[in-house]
Amino acid sequence: MKTFYYLFITAAAIILVSFKKPDPLPLYKNKSAPIESRVNDLLKRMTLAEKVMQLSQYTLGLNDNENNINDLSKNFDPHAGSLIYFGSDPVFRNAVQKKAIEETRLGIPILFGFDVIHGCKTLYPIPLAVGCSWNTALNSEVCSNSAKETYLSGINWTFSPMVDVARDPRWGRVAEGYGEDPYTGGQFGASAVRGYQGQSLSAPNNIAACLKHYVAYGLVEGGRDYSFTDVSQQVLHDTYLVTFKAAVKAGASTVMSSFNDISGTPATINKYLLTDVLKTQWGFKGFVVADWQAIAQLTNQGVAKDPEQAGERALNAGLDMDMLSDIYHKYLPDLLKQKKITMATVNEAVKRVLTLKFKLGLFDNPYTPIVDESQRYLQPATKKAANQMAAESMVLLKNKDNVLPISSSIKSVAIIGPMVKDSTDLMGSWTGRAKAKDVESINSALQSEFAGRVQLNYAHGCDFDGKDDSGFDEALNAAKNSDEVVLFLGEKNSWSGENTSRSTIALPEIQECLVAAIKKIGKPIIIVLNNGRPLALKNIEPDADAILEAWQPGTVGATAITGILSGRINPSGKLDITFPLTTGQIPVYYDMHPRSRPYSGNYQDIPTEPLYWFGHGLSYTTYNYGDVKLSSIKIKKTGHLVAKVEVNNAGKMDGKEAVLWYISHPEATISRPRKELKFFEKKLIKQGEKIVYTFDLDPERDLSYPDANGKQVLESGDYYLMVGSQKVKFEVTD
Ligand code: NOJ
Repeated sequence: MKTFYYLFITAAAIILVSFKKPDPLPLYKNKSAPIESRVNDLLKRMTLAEKVMQLSQYTLGLNDNENNINDLSKNFDPHAGSLIYFGSDPVFRNAVQKKAIEETRLGIPILFGFDVIHGCKTLYPIPLAVGCSWNTALNSEVCSNSAKETYLSGINWTFSPMVDVARDPRWGRVAEGYGEDPYTGGQFGASAVRGYQGQSLSAPNNIAACLKHYVAYGLVEGGRDYSFTDVSQQVLHDTYLVTFKAAVKAGASTVMSSFNDISGTPATINKYLLTDVLKTQWGFKGFVVADWQAIAQLTNQGVAKDPEQAGERALNAGLDMDMLSDIYHKYLPDLLKQKKITMATVNEAVKRVLTLKFKLGLFDNPYTPIVDESQRYLQPATKKAANQMAAESMVLLKNKDNVLPISSSIKSVAIIGPMVKDSTDLMGSWTGRAKAKDVESINSALQSEFAGRVQLNYAHGCDFDGKDDSGFDEALNAAKNSDEVVLFLGEKNSWSGENTSRSTIALPEIQECLVAAIKKIGKPIIIVLNNGRPLALKNIEPDADAILEAWQPGTVGATAITGILSGRINPSGKLDITFPLTTGQIPVYYDMHPRSRPYSGNYQDIPTEPLYWFGHGLSYTTYNYGDVKLSSIKIKKTGHLVAKVEVNNAGKMDGKEAVLWYISHPEATISRPRKELKFFEKKLIKQGEKIVYTFDLDPERDLSYPDANGKQVLESGDYYLMVGSQKVKFEVTD
């Protein structure tokens, strides 16, 4: 009986167990639940150790970035919030992700990040060049293409765009941003964000953007990387924060704090900037990641006695994710015990990180689809857009007697210089996963462009630098035997980017000597420049008949150069940064504040004017601007003003003209720049056609300026609107 009883009980238990409802799906795994509820649910389930790991980023793979070395890391903790993935193999990446999903308690996916700055496999021009295109729609397109290559490589987050306003071209990182103007930087930054992130972060091929480096990094002393920045709060809001504000408004998912000490409080621990301005004033909902080991480096900057104190200060300032310092992981639990940080602060940071992972769809679709490499990279449409961007970003600086385009009567051209055969230096800094073998060289582009029409006489001339002039004779012979000379000069790609400051921005002496030697032959000289910063051309400009600034134009940029030389492409770029005459003129930028004696205070030894101002750029056609027409010369602060200008393409070629609209307000309470760009638009104007450009001026948006606390001020009074060579006055009333 007893046995029967036990058997009965056991059987009943088995039946009960097998009928027990399966564990309900945790809310955070429910795809249809709102993201906020999923985040809160997951957070409740997490241990402190799991939380601090979400705030920690490490590397995966072989790091080939010489400024930020970390060992080859195959061993990773699948609990890591993020890994910087130095690879492009989605299969390996998925295997890593699988460990996070299947071998950790809560299955939180890893966020894979990488520096895809101007292209992954297909490089488009460096951002400094992109700004010269004045084509933000095209920027969105190239960034969207780049996102697709990146996404298919297993990366969901790029550390781009860099929107640091930069006015010191000695600083190598000037190459990575959109030049000297806050408005331009903001517009291009916002268009990059739209391109990377698309309509929805969770859609395939879209990736999260990261605005960097927050903030005023471009103002590092002497253009020396990682240095101190002395900046007033007024200038921060007026200039350096402007680009970030615009790109945050465009929906950027993350922000990277900068390395620099900002007037005594490094960005990494700057609560005013990270929390008060970014998160509170602007309502930024994403997360802030530190720059590479920046938390650990706080001890070098003299604001933390040890790593623990550095971690405390960073977290309390509003810095959410620790890049590579391994300080949050090691010290946050102890700091919590000591009550130096609170659980609320930790939770807030973790929530921000998790929210992005949910938005990216990583919880629901953690794996990268496997697409064959032949379909993944260097696709025709991607190369076409990159080529168009290269063409639109090049700036014709000088064209004496219309020496360009090369006339059909020219039968032979000498092609000389260190840039002709080596495509590596066309790539620029930050080359993603691109390979030089995929980058078209100038030589091969020249051969296809001029095949059968023009004889090309090549000579190396000299190296980028050094003292070896043994190649000069060959170059002089090539010049003697040709009708014209094209010199391909510039900088190696390792001369710009991170940690690449230069004390002079002139070309190295050997290249200048080559120009001087060739000049003596007496043939027309065309100089094509490939470089990552504005150059001081004082010594070579007088010897050149034409100068084309072709920047570092990327994978298919060489055919854009040769297209401009041949006249197949009409140049349409205009400078997004001023070219000083000499290094000694730095800083010089178009929106400087007026001097108390505008007629005085000049240099005694050189002209005070730069060689080429921001906005300068020639075309093969002629654009005539008609009179500016204003809808009214008096508007209310709440009203708006419509300005129109008709532009006539009076030349012999179709062309794209970028029209730049500036304002000035010479009676402001806080002094304003001499002029400020407020709108730009680029349009195709066919030969003989007239097109009307319109600027719809909204006083609140276009005429107000921030005070030292970032509060926008709109003042009544006289204003000026400038376009082309015209300047018209209007009045704003209360
Ligand atoms: C340091 C650089 O300053 C930053 O721009 C980059 O995104 C990170 N390293 C990650 O590589």
